[in-house]
Amino acid sequence: MENGSHWKPRSWEQFQAQQLPRYPDLLELERALEQLQTRPPLVEASEVIQLSQRIADAGQGKRFIVQAGECAERFIDCQPEIVTQKVQLLLQLTALAAQGLRKPVVSIGRLAGQFGKPRSDEFEVRGADTLPTYRGDIINGYEFSASSRTPSPSRMLEAYQCASATLDWIRSTRAHSASAASPSEGTIYSSHEALLLPFESALTRWSDEFSGYFNQGAHFLWLGERTRQPEGAHVEYLRGIRNPIGIKVGPAMSPSELVELIALLNPSNAWGRITLITRLGAGKVSELLPDFITAVRGACRNVTWSCDPMHGNIVRMSDGLKTRYFDSIMSEVLLSQKVHRDMGSWLAGLHLESTAEDVTECVGGEVPVREEQLSLNYQTYCDPRLNYAQSLELVVRFCESFRGLTDHEVVSAHEKSLRAAENSAPSSHPAPV
Ligand code: PEP
Ligand code: CO
Repeated sequence: MENGSHWKPRSWEQFQAQQLPRYPDLLELERALEQLQTRPPLVEASEVIQLSQRIADAGQGKRFIVQAGECAERFIDCQPEIVTQKVQLLLQLTALAAQGLRKPVVSIGRLAGQFGKPRSDEFEVRGADTLPTYRGDIINGYEFSASSRTPSPSRMLEAYQCASATLDWIRSTRAHSASAASPSEGTIYSSHEALLLPFESALTRWSDEFSGYFNQGAHFLWLGERTRQPEGAHVEYLRGIRNPIGIKVGPAMSPSELVELIALLNPSNAWGRITLITRLGAGKVSELLPDFITAVRGACRNVTWSCDPMHGNIVRMSDGLKTRYFDSIMSEVLLSQKVHRDMGSWLAGLHLESTAEDVTECVGGEVPVREEQLSLNYQTYCDPRLNYAQSLELVVRFCESFRGLTDHEVVSAHEKSLRAAENSAPSSHPAPV
């Protein structure tokens, strides 16, 4: 790894990259990137700095973070009603957490750019046909045909348009409802995995005001579990931007690898720069998380801890559908929180894959989705998401355990969430209890 002085938005090109598509037409790729480089930024550097400060506060126990949204956003969902539903769910989860934890809560959406997916398998086989796997709408199409699955650079321009329209819509609708909230409430920050580096670097701009490079395609970017090699292109890219960044921490990582990564990505040890998003699995978290906390503490690294209870708890059913059991998701959240509390550490955030729709992708919950119901409304293009009722239930139960609220307070928080749900959600949603 070179030292910081040689970093440029495209210096990652000199490093080994995992998970990047091979575009058949490199000229077309360069043309698309040239266009993207001239497009206006999607977020302001000052908003990015503000988010870093809020994440810094969260790391020090003064705030909480709810980061939630799609596993894989789809271009077809860039529609006003659908975006509004997503925003309402995120704000409801935020309000529940704020009430339950009695702290200001930062809302970060997995939206307006969560279009690229890392995949474990290079190819998908259906019957006699083998085609490249779907890697997210920004790279190729979900439809199982050779032309759709071929990576196309023009998809990056479409992703830019969808992200831009999504953010515009959120800003305009938030502006209309701003009178109900104080100006800092209701701010939604955007985030996605920093996966498709050609796209990310095309939206990386120098800020004279802050004397640094910012990814101006999203406020927050994270490093995925499959692209975290210290000598790899994704780490090289992320170390040079000033945005707050997340590091996914899976069970295959060692505490010393984590400390090394943090040092590479945050040499100045600034609070707010690094959010560690652990995704260890319900069965492993109690064993593995303490050593990560001990190692990070031992190295005196300032980090903000978050829990992703989704990605360590994926199972495949006999018919091939991927699912997650609500009980495992809930259990990872509660066990993570217990480990942090027992060690005097502050669990500062939740990172969820959730949708406001009444999907049947995860099994369980108080309004149960049963195994045999999974195929009834299974919509996701990638990982199974918590549905509306499951998302609310998770946050309510997390809050209950977190602060040891009295029964009366818990019931009242839950009731309020039901009322909020009734007031703002389409009537097709089942009530969360
Ligand atoms: C994700 O967050 O969608 C994801 C792929 O996570 P991870 O890198 O932790 O597997
Ligand atoms: Co996912």
